[in-house]
Amino acid sequence: MKIPYVNIAKQYATERKDLLSKIDRTLSSGNWIGGDEIQKFEKKISKLCKTKYCVALNSGTDALTLGLHLLGVRRGDEVITPPNSFIASTAVILHLGAKPIFVDVKDDQNINEKEIEKKITRKTKVIMPVHLTGRMCSMDKIMNISRKYKIPVIEDGAQSILSKYKGKMSGSWGDIGCFSTHPLKNLNASGDGGFLTTNNKRTYEIIKNLRSHGMEENRNNVKSFGYVSRMDAIQATILNFRIDNLRSIIKRRRENVNIYLKNLNLDNVFFPNEKKSEFNTYHTFVVQVDRRDELKKFLEKNGVGSAIHYPIPIHLQDCSKNLGYKKKSFPITENQSKRIISLPINQYLKEKEIIYISNLINKFYK
Ligand SMILES: Cc1ncc(COP(=O)(O)O)c(C=O)c1O
Repeated sequence: MKIPYVNIAKQYATERKDLLSKIDRTLSSGNWIGGDEIQKFEKKISKLCKTKYCVALNSGTDALTLGLHLLGVRRGDEVITPPNSFIASTAVILHLGAKPIFVDVKDDQNINEKEIEKKITRKTKVIMPVHLTGRMCSMDKIMNISRKYKIPVIEDGAQSILSKYKGKMSGSWGDIGCFSTHPLKNLNASGDGGFLTTNNKRTYEIIKNLRSHGMEENRNNVKSFGYVSRMDAIQATILNFRIDNLRSIIKRRRENVNIYLKNLNLDNVFFPNEKKSEFNTYHTFVVQVDRRDELKKFLEKNGVGSAIHYPIPIHLQDCSKNLGYKKKSFPITENQSKRIISLPINQYLKEKEIIYISNLINKFYK
């Protein structure tokens, strides 16, 4: 059996006919930047994420950059965040001249909220939890800290569209939610894309202005020196088409997890179970194992693709040399980076394929 880790080509094959006619309509309209499709997308997202506003952007990275900028992050400030995210979560802090202050994670890979208060200083400007793998952080406790110290929260929800914690949507807890629609996300564009959610009208209006050179509607009046961070009309068209399937994609991914859990010998594989307070959307299905690299090779030899998110924690990357962190600074993150493996979880997997992968893993540890 050959089971790739992701199967984007299959996605396109299933949607090609209907999708191409939508793209054709957008191209024929001549509205390639801005226009109806963008507005339609923003409305749909606000409804799904249960926030008052959404701003469609060109990437999750720019959503984070604009969000942090708006919350006042400037040179010399500090932003609290975990060291086990995708590199962009930290890069955006540094690009604004601020310093990432890392807080280690829990066994579920999300920031340990109990460690956050100890890292707060007079320079702390924002707390930025990352809802890794589609599982949300303990947002009630993080928001209590935010209120106590009057420090705003920006949720890095790049991996968690439609995830919930205690019944409340990802991106609707903090002051700002930032999302990615990169091709590997559950709601994926066919290129880069992202968006920002907020309940604050002022935030919405400023980010909307900043995303397009700071220009007002007529292009002649510039309110502020802005960026080119807007989503284009073709990506919005693709996302408007795919968004109708999002709930069923998440349902399939959740069912796939259940098939794994039924078939894997959990004595060999650690998976932090979904708690009652969580609704996880499984952008990735990450388990923690001994002899991870050997297992990865064994799976590959037997036709099964897998991935590691992420093999080198951010504080140990070459680009972090000047941040002054050493090995063992964040023991849980570092230990997990050697043990985590992301197994195929996409909506095109068949039950028998998941059973095949599970049996292979059971056999490997026998
Ligand atoms: C946790 C996290 N933050 C930020 C990003 C950046 O998003 P983008 O690739 O859309 O810029 C990603 C994704 O790729 C991510 O997974």
